Amino acid sequence: MKKITINDLMRWKQEGRKFATVTAYDASFAQLFESQNMPVLLVGDSLGMVLQGQTDTLPVTIEDMAYHTRSVRAGSPHSLLMTDMPFMSYATPAQACENAAKLMRAGANMVKLEGGSWLVETVRMLTERAVPVCAHLGLTPQSVNIFGGYKVQGREEKQAEQMLHDALALQNAGAQLVILECVPARLAAKITQALDIPVIGIGAGADTDGQVLVMHDMFGISANYMPKFSKNFLAETGDMRQAVAKYMEDVERGIFPDEEHTIA
Ligand code: KIV
Repeated sequence: MKKITINDLMRWKQEGRKFATVTAYDASFAQLFESQNMPVLLVGDSLGMVLQGQTDTLPVTIEDMAYHTRSVRAGSPHSLLMTDMPFMSYATPAQACENAAKLMRAGANMVKLEGGSWLVETVRMLTERAVPVCAHLGLTPQSVNIFGGYKVQGREEKQAEQMLHDALALQNAGAQLVILECVPARLAAKITQALDIPVIGIGAGADTDGQVLVMHDMFGISANYMPKFSKNFLAETGDMRQAVAKYMEDVERGIFPDEEHTIA
């Protein structure tokens, strides 16, 4: 597999070529994903829930994220590797720079931040200092206590308009990728069309440029809960490598997510 960069993702968007992404937290699974040519890996702070057994992502630290980034990079030298900045590690632009450096030194190619227009200055500061940024909008799990639970975002018109506005503002500030989580498919399609940069969806319908799944959901081994929009590809194929290949193929062919796995 050749080294994947943000330029590949930009080209794929222009060509209308869809791509898969999956979370990874250790070298063995990262190697398995790379063996199937998975182009993008995300070291998600979901590790707080799927690895540490916490009820949300808030306890995850920057040291946790750097540790798992190093492990994933060791297993997958060629994927575009994106790492979440955990809760309160980017509360100010200066803090964001200091903590993003730890993740980039650990092997990340890009950092992901949860939030809207309030992050414009931070995104500008990071990108001007050579840290590529992915903006995460919609259901941003670090805000679970503000949302009062894990709820679909952007159903109301005002909220939907704000999300589109935020996405454009973050793109203008220098963000090179956007993740939309748990938003109605029509809104995700509108934002994807409005942006020049690639948009990856999770619970955001089939019209985004790429899709991402938490690996434990893709293998159907999440401890407590399987989101409606996720699919157990291991149950369908009976083999881990084939499950990964099937997920990638279904995303590339626009078969996943289907109606059953889409939020209307
Ligand atoms: O932490 C994570 O795994 C994520 C994905 C759900 C997008 O942010």
